[in-house]
Amino acid sequence: MAERAHLSTDRLNGVCETLLIPLAARVVESESVAPAFYDERGVALADLLDFDPHVVARDRWNKVGCQARTLILDAAVNDFLQRHPRALVINLGAGLCTRFWRVHARESLRWFDIDLPSVIELKRELLSQFDKEPEGSRRQYTTLDADVTDPSWLEQIPRTNDEQVLVIAEGLLMYLEQDSVQQLLKTLVDEFTGGELLLEAWSKFVRRVWGRLSPALRRTGASLHWGLDNPRTIEAWDSRIRVKNEWRPGDWEPHRWGLLRYAPALRRSLTKVLHFQLGEAVDAVDAQHSAA
Ligand SMILES: C[S@@+](CC[C@H](N)C(=O)[O-])C[C@H]1O[C@@H](n2cnc3c(N)ncnc32)[C@H](O)[C@@H]1O
Repeated sequence: MAERAHLSTDRLNGVCETLLIPLAARVVESESVAPAFYDERGVALADLLDFDPHVVARDRWNKVGCQARTLILDAAVNDFLQRHPRALVINLGAGLCTRFWRVHARESLRWFDIDLPSVIELKRELLSQFDKEPEGSRRQYTTLDADVTDPSWLEQIPRTNDEQVLVIAEGLLMYLEQDSVQQLLKTLVDEFTGGELLLEAWSKFVRRVWGRLSPALRRTGASLHWGLDNPRTIEAWDSRIRVKNEWRPGDWEPHRWGLLRYAPALRRSLTKVLHFQLGEAVDAVDAQHSAA
């Protein structure tokens, strides 16, 4: 690896700066005595930056929530990759997410990390410090700078017929206006019929109060716009989108949550990770074709 220089996080403003919160949570967990997961690439990226993950991670509920969702989403993505040997994964609002290096990826995986230009510029600089995928590997990792509220990002993703698509929106949608979330989900189901979507949503209560209560979030100046209490709301937006599964980060290891360990119902109401089917399942389509 080339000699390391610390890169400045000053170029990250507002919502872009929020990426430091989940990165810090993953690094701090990885460096703990008995970590629940180890994010080797995340630790290496943080090491190249001029920020202290331990300071950002002092915000306990953000930290634990991000750690819990990391475990949930890593498992859900691994499950998808297991079910679909030829997968195209599109990670929206990816920040400095390093899931591509944590999951059990097959040779044929294609993975796109999408975020706003200042984030992608920084991520490319950071990743240029590491070795590329080995020569001859068909695993492809691509970073794409785009605003996900403008559907033209889709034109930059070359498609093949035999790939199953998984879209991830982790720590993203709460920063978008509801109209943008609705439009984005419609675009996804139009474009990726038969694909799947994993998204993280915060409750309406959290959306209202967390921007003021969380020191880490307050520091970024980012505003929270979208909250969701009932996943069926999304099914009502578009009948082609169906809930497949639902997890609650607040169910994870109560002792980690400080005072919230005494309030299990509140804890589990705060945030959700939701798994949706976009349009008809590919397996169902295959079954119909073979029955015809
Ligand atoms: C809290 S961070 C989450 C990063 C990553 N998903 C993770 O969990 O580590 C939110 C990310 O969403 C990105 N973001 C916010 N609005 C966006 C938009 N309209 N288009 C693309 N990315 C956006 C921000 O730049 C930031 O990197």
